[in-house]
Amino acid sequence: MSSNSKERLSKLANQLKSTKMGSASVFSQVPLAPPDAIFHLSASYKADTSPQKVDLSVGAYRTEEGKPWILPVVAKAEKHILNDPSTNHEYLGIEGLSTFTEASVRLLLGDDSAVISEKRYATVQTVSGTGANSTFAAFCNVHFKKPILVSNPTWGNHHNIFTSAGLKVVSYPYFNKETRGLDLEGMLKAIHEAESGSIILLHACAHNPTGVDPNQDEWKKIADAVEAKKILPFFDCAYQGFASGDVNRDAWAIRYFAQRGFEFFVAQSFAKNFGLYGERCGALTAVTSDREVTTKVLSQLKKISRATISNPPKYGAQIVSLVLNNPEYKEEWFQNLRTMSERIIQMRKQLYDHLQRLQTPGTWNHIIDQIGMFSFTGLNAKQAQFLKEKYHIFLTDNGRISMAGLSPSNVKYFAEAVDDAVRNS
Ligand code: LMR
Repeated sequence: MSSNSKERLSKLANQLKSTKMGSASVFSQVPLAPPDAIFHLSASYKADTSPQKVDLSVGAYRTEEGKPWILPVVAKAEKHILNDPSTNHEYLGIEGLSTFTEASVRLLLGDDSAVISEKRYATVQTVSGTGANSTFAAFCNVHFKKPILVSNPTWGNHHNIFTSAGLKVVSYPYFNKETRGLDLEGMLKAIHEAESGSIILLHACAHNPTGVDPNQDEWKKIADAVEAKKILPFFDCAYQGFASGDVNRDAWAIRYFAQRGFEFFVAQSFAKNFGLYGERCGALTAVTSDREVTTKVLSQLKKISRATISNPPKYGAQIVSLVLNNPEYKEEWFQNLRTMSERIIQMRKQLYDHLQRLQTPGTWNHIIDQIGMFSFTGLNAKQAQFLKEKYHIFLTDNGRISMAGLSPSNVKYFAEAVDDAVRNS
């Protein structure tokens, strides 16, 4: 055998050996997980080289120029932290920064809340809203293992979080496809038929992905049904102040449940309303009817935090704490919130006007009726695909668009593309 053939043979043997080793892996049964619908889309947008591309994927605020926005009040707080000689990088306590957690609860429940004066709440700082959801899921898995009712549709990560924690997820109807509004009847029926003592996940405001919120009368009916079935409410509050521009208005449902004496949990995120997306700043609060119970719940939430993150990240919490505890900064934050929510409302109006002008088939009132970061356009997966391929417009397959991705410079382009998709795809 020539030395050349020997070399080839040995290469082949090595290749065979490595293939064999690969298939012998103890992990060979691990299935490939599907990519995340939201962040995978956002990555596809980034990879697209078209100058016309439009990002309506992930819910993150953009300026009129399509740029991320550091809130001016956040920039001030950052300078303050940087110039403070006592700033350091020491650990926070397991439950997080107390000036932050206390201010978060006051923001949520209002300064005059009886829950606060009676100290019937337990709060831990979390890794943004997702971390708050996960901490709650982990708590339930051990101490309150009940099915959780989740709206259909809901935020892309809710099922993942609760099934990963071992909870049974039951969907309840939420969105009426005909009216593109709330399916209150379907929702109440599902609550009525649910296992008594279950958990229900409610979006405090600016429902993700539909942008459809119950009105106050509808919230009262939901509360009655939840009370009748002894269901534990769990609010996901990711848009306080961002939805209407008014932090009190956006917390109405939570405060209403508190006043009626419910026990409940709330996941709070400061990603959108402070623009602190990557800083992962959030909180999980339990409201109970008994101070002693609260102490025990807090001890368990801390135990979960210690096991999963040890203690939470500091930077975002310092910023939020500075702003919420300083009346001047807080007032400026309210202005910043109005800037963001008003720009989004403007985009809704402009999109609606363009679609009216184009006489795009269908009704489009829902674009201006819906609230918050997202609009559930009613476009289907085929139309979403068409928009991506022909126009380089990135929206999720369920027809959700992040309104913040629209600006005066691309809203006409988007409306014309939607018109084409509706007529021709
Ligand atoms: C979204 O829904 O786009 C955002 O809340 C980002 C996320 O974590 O999914």
